[in-house]
Amino acid sequence: MLDNSTPANTDVLFQPLSVGSLELKNRIVMAPMTRNMAPEGVPNAANAEYYKRRAENAVGLIISEGTVINRPASRNEQHIPFFHGDDALSGWKGVIDAVHSAGGKMGPQIWHTGATRGSGDWTPEADVESPSGLLAPDKPRGQQMTEEDIADTIAAFAQAALDAKTLGFDMAELHGAHGYLIDEFFWSGTNQRDDAWGGATLPERSRFAVEMVRAVRAAVGPDFPIALRISQWKQQDYAVRLAPTPQELEAWVAPLSEAGVDIFHGSQRRFWEPEFPEIDGEQGLNFAGWLKKITGKTVISVGSVGLEGDFFGAFAGKGSGTAEITDLIRRMENDEFDLIGVGRALLSDPAWAAKIARGAGDELKGYDPADLFKLG
Ligand SMILES: Cc1cc2nc3c(=O)[nH]c(=O)nc-3n(C[C@H](O)[C@H](O)[C@H](O)COP(=O)(O)O)c2cc1C
Repeated sequence: MLDNSTPANTDVLFQPLSVGSLELKNRIVMAPMTRNMAPEGVPNAANAEYYKRRAENAVGLIISEGTVINRPASRNEQHIPFFHGDDALSGWKGVIDAVHSAGGKMGPQIWHTGATRGSGDWTPEADVESPSGLLAPDKPRGQQMTEEDIADTIAAFAQAALDAKTLGFDMAELHGAHGYLIDEFFWSGTNQRDDAWGGATLPERSRFAVEMVRAVRAAVGPDFPIALRISQWKQQDYAVRLAPTPQELEAWVAPLSEAGVDIFHGSQRRFWEPEFPEIDGEQGLNFAGWLKKITGKTVISVGSVGLEGDFFGAFAGKGSGTAEITDLIRRMENDEFDLIGVGRALLSDPAWAAKIARGAGDELKGYDPADLFKLG
């Protein structure tokens, strides 16, 4: 444990890591954050510069904001970027070239927003689609997907991953978390199908994701890293836990791992919260930690890094953020997880990782919600 006079030793954050063809210089990942700032769905120079600023400032891996597949109603806000069509893909080429010019690595987060609503009034022209036409239990929204819709959606995810590889991205992440389309298949509250895409058990409801991972893997070949982001919680209900026991978690993720996931991104809101404290205690493994223990794959954790208490002071060995940084370093030194996602702290401070690297904790700019409205 650090005492109050010892600056945090962050060396563990700056170790290299290889996953397939992906070679990372350190363990800091920019978490995917929707910005809704690609005009009419096409990323432009401002979007490229936004990512490049993080690449120039020591972020090891950038995962893009969610960017949507070629389906009629795959996004729920007007300026969410497409990941299909010549204009948008050419915009993304500008993004990855800019990131590479600054020595960074990046993958798009490939997405379909399912039955969810965006924050504004905008809605897609086509009907939204989801496993059972439900946004949440007893909340109908949109169309139940047909067999053909499902096949086309899986093919569109695979095409997007292949396009990511062709454009020169270093990996791709599939967004299977937070109550969007893939997660709507996982969750019994939104998947009430009685065909082969539904069922009483989580492994039955995982077939859509398993088939998708297989299709993506077949499209991109063996070496291009595929990440899958999953969460227990849903935006529709933070209290939902898809897998309340390690056995159920294993039944859920082992088939996904076998289907070809290289990196599991275990999304939780606070990285220090143990997933099954009844088994390994209050300091026990977090969600990503259990994903690593079960699958043996590379895992990314995430959740409130740099937000709790006085993270600035923590880097000088004082202040209420000390427990947080100490806990992060302890977990990473124990190989509980391999990579740590940073969202809001990096949104407000593009130089966050570079400042940590040179021990300049006192220069960190804290998260400011006003930054949500700019591409700073
Ligand atoms: C503005 C904003 C947009 C987000 N958009 C996405 C998204 O597109 N895809 C996703 O998987 N998570 C998204 N998230 C969740 C983040 O990736 C991350 O898991 C969450 O913010 C917790 O990390 P943090 O505490 O470091 O911010 C978003 C979060 C924020 C703040």
